[in-house]
Amino acid sequence: MAEFSASKPVRVGFIGLGAVTAYHHLPGLLLDPRARLTAICDADPALLEKRKVEWGVDRATTDPLALCRDDAVDAVIIATPNDTHRPIAVAAAEAGKHVMAEKPLGLNAREVGDMYEAARDAGVVHMTAFTYRFAPAMRYLRTLVKSGAIGEPRHFRSQRFLDWPETSWGWRQYKERAGAGDLFDMTIHRIDFAIDLIGPIQRVCGAVARFAPRDRTVDGKPCEPSNVDDWSSLIGEFASGATGVWEGTTLAKGYHRDGFGHEWAEINGSEASVVYRLHEPNVILLGKTGSDLAPVPVPDEFLKPAGSPRDPADGAPATVFRYDLMWEFISAIVEGRPAVPDFRDGLNAQIVADAVLDSHRRRAWVDTPTATA
Ligand SMILES: NC(=O)c1ccc[n+]([C@@H]2O[C@H](COP(=O)([O-])OP(=O)(O)OC[C@H]3O[C@@H](n4cnc5c(N)ncnc54)[C@H](O)[C@@H]3O)[C@@H](O)[C@H]2O)c1
Repeated sequence: MAEFSASKPVRVGFIGLGAVTAYHHLPGLLLDPRARLTAICDADPALLEKRKVEWGVDRATTDPLALCRDDAVDAVIIATPNDTHRPIAVAAAEAGKHVMAEKPLGLNAREVGDMYEAARDAGVVHMTAFTYRFAPAMRYLRTLVKSGAIGEPRHFRSQRFLDWPETSWGWRQYKERAGAGDLFDMTIHRIDFAIDLIGPIQRVCGAVARFAPRDRTVDGKPCEPSNVDDWSSLIGEFASGATGVWEGTTLAKGYHRDGFGHEWAEINGSEASVVYRLHEPNVILLGKTGSDLAPVPVPDEFLKPAGSPRDPADGAPATVFRYDLMWEFISAIVEGRPAVPDFRDGLNAQIVADAVLDSHRRRAWVDTPTATA
């Protein structure tokens, strides 16, 4: 494996130059002296031209597979619509590039399994962009749970309520391009961090629903109506014996909260309850029997990853932890170790998310076997 440092940085190629690349991955990369943005790719030539100028990158292509083969690139970030992740990630891994891909990794667990196997067999670093694992409150909560500070975890509970407009979601509102709606876009993050906190989920009972037709664009033009869920839910049983309840919606009027929406995830243990909330990501709530949940500041060491130059006081707390995804990916490459969370984590969350759709279709509980190798 090549040796990287500030004088020989990891040369990164961005594939997909839309919202998440601009808001999360670019600022994360610019903070990291061990990495440099070397090449960019977008299928939209006009956006590609705009980003070339804005981001000062000459190496640009509309062909993602050409970027994957580019000798001037060591690592790629895939942030394109969900139906394109699999072929790009497999090509990147086969060309020996380290690869971080956005969630959901693919349209279903079969696609994601292909991606995981390709990256594993190529021996490259692979990472799933499960952003919320990096929230300081989530990192602290994990340490409390794993250290036994809340006793035996019994119940997991998460809510992700967004107050979004009911106009078109673009590619996101079509099953063929997105796989599913709120379930794959939002709830899958909460499935992932529940598995990370409590361990494998053994079976689930799920339900999804669609309320908004989304047959108009923001400009009022007619478009093909949505065929994906805008409400998703599941109950689940963990291998540990713990139980979980998840609910997500993009139609929760009154839950706007400056665009961040409402996110609440909690674990009730035999000794204490702990709560993570997105809108206050540097504080947890903690409660013991006979008392009420009360705020506890997240200790400094959890406000950013060890060694990161990011100033936790700089920027909106609910935004800036998202830059730490890139720090983890580059750290894994530089240190020659696996990234966390990796494609296998993306696969295990996908297996559960797929089972929610299957359960809803069959009106039945569905087993969710963990991918182990
Ligand atoms: N981790 C998170 O918190 C988070 C947040 C937002 C989005 N996402 C994920 O990131 C991905 C992108 O979402 P977004 O909101 O940035 O979407 P977007 O629509 O804003 O951007 C996607 C870009 O990909 C380009 N594109 C489409 N097909 C392509 C192809 N074959 N090759 C190259 N470029 C192509 C489009 O032209 C567009 O510019 C999705 O998988 C989404 O689920 C994750």
